[in-house]
Amino acid sequence: MTEHVVADADEISDGERIIAQIEGREIGIFRKDGEYHAFLNWCPHQGGPACEGTISGTNESTFDRDSLELEVCWENEGNVLNCPWHGWEFDLKSGDCLAPRDDQLPTYPVKTRDGELVVEL
Ligand code: FES
Repeated sequence: MTEHVVADADEISDGERIIAQIEGREIGIFRKDGEYHAFLNWCPHQGGPACEGTISGTNESTFDRDSLELEVCWENEGNVLNCPWHGWEFDLKSGDCLAPRDDQLPTYPVKTRDGELVVEL
């Protein structure tokens, strides 16, 4: 892997992102709760620009088969990345797709060194 300095670490406020070009790839680098996470700006559904989507929460639901009651709750506000093309949802820290659960955004190691953001590709 090769290290790439992409920005000063303080250029990204918590809950925000930048999109960097590294070796011909668009990489979204997110800051969440003081940690940095880097994903390929490519959705495993149909290749949309997942890293350009909104950051929000998601609906979690439970269904009781006996009473036929459905309960829907808004969860994980600020921790879910929504692909702008068709709304697939990804965990902002791991890149895991919330449904279907076996998909994931391609991820890259990212760290800070001397105040700079460094992505390994
Ligand atoms: S391309 Fe991302 S949800 Fe379809």
